[in-house]
Amino acid sequence: MHIPDIIIAIDGCSSTGKSSFAKIIAKEFSFLYLDSGALYRGVTLLSMENGLIGDDNTINVPALTEALKSLDLHFGEKGTYMGERCIEEDIRSLAVAGKVSPIAAVPQVRDWVDNRLREFGRNRRVVMDGRDIGTTVFPDAELKIFMTANHQVRAQRRADEMRAKGIDVNLEDVMRNLQERDHIDSSRETSPLTQAKDAVVLDNSYMTMEQQMDWLKRLIVEKFGC
Ligand code: DC
Repeated sequence: MHIPDIIIAIDGCSSTGKSSFAKIIAKEFSFLYLDSGALYRGVTLLSMENGLIGDDNTINVPALTEALKSLDLHFGEKGTYMGERCIEEDIRSLAVAGKVSPIAAVPQVRDWVDNRLREFGRNRRVVMDGRDIGTTVFPDAELKIFMTANHQVRAQRRADEMRAKGIDVNLEDVMRNLQERDHIDSSRETSPLTQAKDAVVLDNSYMTMEQQMDWLKRLIVEKFGC
């Protein structure tokens, strides 16, 4: 199936399967996959390693804004890189997950990430996942999907994902983290998690990847006639 040069924006809460779906879409249509959450996680790691966020989540915004000027986050063979260093494993830890929402609520951080994403997406043929891709980063994206799944399914998925990476977690902690992040991500002032008016909802609680792909292909045929 050949599809036109479009941007596919996938938004939704944490662990609704956005990134797994986006990666498969990228492979199927030879699109570039961009994980916007990884950039927020990278900024969080930078903040933690440089003492820019405290135990009480107080953020040194002026110092962080300064640090962003020389920050090089990009995607490579093994995932996310900060300069030469592969940070893929570090940014998936529960410690980073516990600090990422307050960092992602800082307007200067959002501006920085948005600019990076727009640079990456300027030639289109990208699939991007996040919280505000269809509303703020690419409001003109040709295809917007808003993903949901029930809470229990989401927590189990995230726990399985972390365990597969050798990270020892218990389900209760993962659930708590998801709840906290949902709350902060949906209630922050700048670009909160919201469904774009023209987004199509996909509840994948009980769907296989194959079923999701079939759903998407039908949608593409309907929308673009290809
Ligand atoms: O998708 P994720 O769980 O890796 O995202 C990590 C955090 O980054 C998430 O808690 C909220 C934030 N985020 C955001 O605010 N906007 C985005 N477009 C993507 C992620």
